[in-house]
Amino acid sequence: MRHSPHNHGGATVKYMKTDRSDILACLRNSEDYVSGQQLCDRLGVSRTAVWKAINRLKEEGYQIESVPSRGYRLVESPADIYSESEIVSRLHTKWAGQRLIFLESTGSTNPDAKRFAEEGAPHGTIVVADRQTAGRGRRGRSWESPAGSSIYFTIVIRPLFSPEKASMVTLVMALSVAEAIHEVTGLETGIKWPNDIVVNGKKVVGILTEMSMTPEMHEMQFLVAGVGVNVNQNRAEDFPEEIRKAATSLQIEAGHQFDRAGLLACILARFEEDYETFERALTLSELKERYESRLVGRNAVVRVLDPEGEYTGTSRGITETGELIVERENGERIRVYAGEVSVRGLYGYAE
Ligand code: BTN
Repeated sequence: MRHSPHNHGGATVKYMKTDRSDILACLRNSEDYVSGQQLCDRLGVSRTAVWKAINRLKEEGYQIESVPSRGYRLVESPADIYSESEIVSRLHTKWAGQRLIFLESTGSTNPDAKRFAEEGAPHGTIVVADRQTAGRGRRGRSWESPAGSSIYFTIVIRPLFSPEKASMVTLVMALSVAEAIHEVTGLETGIKWPNDIVVNGKKVVGILTEMSMTPEMHEMQFLVAGVGVNVNQNRAEDFPEEIRKAATSLQIEAGHQFDRAGLLACILARFEEDYETFERALTLSELKERYESRLVGRNAVVRVLDPEGEYTGTSRGITETGELIVERENGERIRVYAGEVSVRGLYGYAE
């Protein structure tokens, strides 16, 4: 049996790659026709299984040509198709997203991922939704999550390190997402420390990382990192009034739509690589330079909203453990910890 069904809230969720996504990947990666027999051999399934999977793909809107004695050819994929088979067929990762739960609609992918993790979901499992009805942001805010336009996913991380290092994972994710967006769209992405991603001064990505401790609270059980990317909203009016000035989408900035499945696959590939780099050092030493090259407001004046007293200083980059370095007028360098304070640029984008 190739699939290992996982029971969650009454719904049976397939964890492993489906025949459909494997077939799709074979067709997409081949310039010529792929015969039914080749597909059977590569996937280790029967002719009937291949035939059924091809029919399901056609139902999903893929245009697949079948020519007797030559085989199958993918002529066209539906525009911005966002489904389990499409995403899985594009993944080239070892562990990130190799177990994938796709939900058309859910409350929030973060608690979903936590539940799966509690039930034993392995490192790298992701929950992806097309829509969230109770999307969560940082500082108790909500995250606007309509269907059909954005990426909402949460990845389960099983860390091999102590809880005080966990906040670095958020910075790793921010770097991976910022670079993936740049790679796929060509847009210049900036990172507003610690983990908002902006394009032309407006926010396009938010990341919410949460930690689960063992009952004795000594060790970290797992982390979940939830990522929301505004992709295909086509005008500012698509955002609620209160965030319209500060939020944007990739489509608004680039002038055309993007394929969410391809972008998600790229994010996961980047994250897998960056996370492994981080895990080797357990600091950001090898990622710091790339992170700082995207840091918004580097060497500019920032206001630090510390609950113990606000102050201004010049942002000088980050430490190897992810704190922001702020230089006061008297030359003193302060390490600002994420979570405790909020940092605002004096000009431009403010949270
Ligand atoms: C922020 O406030 O900047 C963080 C927003 C995080 C949104 C993502 S969307 C996927 C995951 N599920 C949620 O409910 N939130 C995160």
